[in-house]
Amino acid sequence: MGFSVRIDDRDSHEVPRPGQCLRTYLRERGRTGVKKGCDTGDCGACTVHVDGLAVHSCLYPAHRADGRVVTTVQGLAEGGQLHHVQEAFARSRAFQCGYCTPGFVMTATALTPEQLADLPQALKGNLCRCTGYRPIDEAVRGAHPRRGEEARPPCPVPEGGDAVARGVVTGGARFTLDDSAPAGMLHIALVRSPHRHARILDIDASAASAVPGVHAVLTHHDAPPTRFSTALHENTDDDPADTRVLDDVVRHVGQRVAAVVADSPATAAQACRLVRVTYEVLPAVTDPEQAIGPGAVQVHEDGNVAAVFRRGVGDVERGLAEADVVHEGVFHTQRVQHTPLECHASRVWTDADGRLHVRAATQTPHLVRRRLCEVFGLDRDRLRVTTGRLGGSFGRGQDLQTEDIALLAALRTGRPVQLENTRTDELTATTTRHPFHVRVTLGARRDGTLTALKLRVIADTGAYGNHGPSVLDVACTEALALYHCPNLAVDGTCVRTHNVPAGAFRGYGAGQLAFAVESALDDLAHRLRLDPLALRERVYLRPGQRAPFPGAGERYPVMDTGLLHCLRLLGQVRAQRLRTRPAPGGQHRSVGEGLAVATLHTVPADGHIAQAAVALRSDGHYDLATAVPEFGTGTGEVLCRIAARALSTSPDRVHLGDADTDLLDHHSGGFASTGLVLTGRAVAAACRTLAERIREVAAVRTGVAADSCRPGVAAVDCDGLPLPLTAVHSRSGTTGRPLRAVASVSARDVVPALGFSAQWFRVEVDTATGLVRVLDSVHVADAGTVMDTTRCRGQVEGAVVQGIGTTLWEDLATDSEGHVTTTGLRTYSIPRFGDVPPTEVHFVEHSDDDRAVNPKPMSELPYNSVAPALANAVRDATGIRFTSLPLRPDTVWAATSAGGRGDGTAQR
Ligand code: FES
Repeated sequence: MGFSVRIDDRDSHEVPRPGQCLRTYLRERGRTGVKKGCDTGDCGACTVHVDGLAVHSCLYPAHRADGRVVTTVQGLAEGGQLHHVQEAFARSRAFQCGYCTPGFVMTATALTPEQLADLPQALKGNLCRCTGYRPIDEAVRGAHPRRGEEARPPCPVPEGGDAVARGVVTGGARFTLDDSAPAGMLHIALVRSPHRHARILDIDASAASAVPGVHAVLTHHDAPPTRFSTALHENTDDDPADTRVLDDVVRHVGQRVAAVVADSPATAAQACRLVRVTYEVLPAVTDPEQAIGPGAVQVHEDGNVAAVFRRGVGDVERGLAEADVVHEGVFHTQRVQHTPLECHASRVWTDADGRLHVRAATQTPHLVRRRLCEVFGLDRDRLRVTTGRLGGSFGRGQDLQTEDIALLAALRTGRPVQLENTRTDELTATTTRHPFHVRVTLGARRDGTLTALKLRVIADTGAYGNHGPSVLDVACTEALALYHCPNLAVDGTCVRTHNVPAGAFRGYGAGQLAFAVESALDDLAHRLRLDPLALRERVYLRPGQRAPFPGAGERYPVMDTGLLHCLRLLGQVRAQRLRTRPAPGGQHRSVGEGLAVATLHTVPADGHIAQAAVALRSDGHYDLATAVPEFGTGTGEVLCRIAARALSTSPDRVHLGDADTDLLDHHSGGFASTGLVLTGRAVAAACRTLAERIREVAAVRTGVAADSCRPGVAAVDCDGLPLPLTAVHSRSGTTGRPLRAVASVSARDVVPALGFSAQWFRVEVDTATGLVRVLDSVHVADAGTVMDTTRCRGQVEGAVVQGIGTTLWEDLATDSEGHVTTTGLRTYSIPRFGDVPPTEVHFVEHSDDDRAVNPKPMSELPYNSVAPALANAVRDATGIRFTSLPLRPDTVWAATSAGGRGDGTAQR
């Protein structure tokens, strides 16, 4: 009997490979709406229906689908009409990056009435890292209104947002590996170091090479000798060049040792196990304090200190002497992981024109091209880098993660090659947030006025310098930009250890600093018997005052009234909540409230360049090119709206393609809120120039003065003479000058200012179990010009939920040998649908900024205030200051049971 399965609207008779899962079988048949987020049935991104039943297709053996009907998200829409669940997800904008959406749609479509009654249980098999789940809840309830319950009103769909939403909910949106694979593609699996520190004496690849289907086993002998930084910045001065594609010394468990290139991922993985490596195991140092102590083992030849930040104003010792109260606290943050649902991946092949094409999950295609050309000695014209939509990022795409090894394999084999990380690779061997140790010393008058603020900061960047120096710099400048204190001193050190490397991550160090300083300030308020909010109004900068340290370009951001508005609004909401919502409580239950504020500069890293190009097409639409990949911020849609406004057209006539190095001369990429702050300006400038040129061409064509020609949606109105844009295009064609405009904007063109984020929580702590439950969550932000309220709110909600995960339980744990033990999504648990409360989000409006041109950062800022606000609320509930994250139930229980000293760090 042959094999037969009905997949959406067609039959497949191809027999699955032995052991093949249904997800891979479907993806290989073009059903790429079925996503890969894990191989263990934990994330739900691969959910499909088999005979109407929702299953995780990564766990479902493909051969078991014989004789069955499989429906994927691509087969759900009928006759071009969205299924009502897809429609509800599109209407509610229930996505940010959209990688989880097909899985949620398929799960939600199959829900029974009983399951609908308990959504946290019903949706526990689907994870979303971006949205915070509120819009998903809204979409599911909108699709299945219960008796007597009216469907919640949908979010207004922003102009031009329909096509994007349709792509996401139908599985049509193209992520990194969703395009058809080039013929003859090979796959990479990596041999990784079992040791923290070792020299590789020998690699015997003979047995692995003999496995049928293996094409190459690459080692440090095959890799270029160039040392480079995996961090990707326009200005590379601060990034230590300490990494090789493959090295003869390993400096952390999980480091690449060899790459096996084979016909299939399974063959490559099997052959990996046959590679024999002989190591000389060397001593290791994992404690950053020890790493900078005398006689420490050296991680690199140039020492363990990757960067130092020492700056101050005034005389901090005098400030402490003048204080009525001196308060000190020592705080520690843990190692956490980005965990976007899409794993890192790169695919490299030779284009028809003979150039190497790298398709990668990166936020910075031009910087990837530049770095790969430097490392491999390639001319930049030989390399093209493109991206698709990214399935979440949170900074992970600002590092070279898989591109270099995939390119090495493509060059050595001459074949198309792909490397797609497994979830275990992601959790055990890719970059993490920098763990920080921070000693905060505060001096204050009785009224709360700060006389001194002194910090000692140690950041653990792991085995390689990477982003470490910049993270330390941002932490020590931007997180401190809030405070008004005449005497301030920071002594910061970024340290290399034999731990898993840290990298760029939402907040970029400022969140770790905010946890320490905003927690210490809260303790100070308790000691001075001041309301925490009142204390903050006293210690923050006033409008017109400048930040203590300069930012990019040595320019000082100046405080506007945004913070005052945030504090005022937060105070009102807080008072109203405390007045009108009686605290629950009971035996073993303590309720408390807490707040914290965070800030970031509006100017991104020095030297950052954004470029945009726009061209009039022959059909009267516009092609827009930027190099900002869409990873869930909605930047692409907003850029189309900015372009449409400048061109006086509608957003659906502006077409933004994938980020592609062939389309622009240079662009530093999309990170640290540069998507709008810089690229938005470049788009507006390019479109204004193009509109001007359209006017000029129309004037020549009609004989009407250019000033009297106004471009419109589909035509130019020249004093009442409508000239179709298609005619303008053909006219420009006869002159040989394409109607195209390009504009560049650099970080120096942005006025330095500050964005703000204020978070308030009310929590209940069960002292019998240590469980912390969030009762209320309110976030107030000054985002400057809010270009898309729905998406901006989604960013805030997602950031708050990611922050709750970081604060309460996420922790990348290692054993005594340095092996990460949280190797999957069951042990490294990110917030689930039922774990988190809704967050009430407010954006303040104020009029002392030029709101037309000054959007403020909001991709990462809301995350930074969450940990201190939550820790402050727990302190209020228990009377115990927790100084180390996460606040897991066992830690909280131990401290409350031991009267405040249970974990050795908590202080009453
Ligand atoms: Fe859910 Fe990105 S929108 S994972």
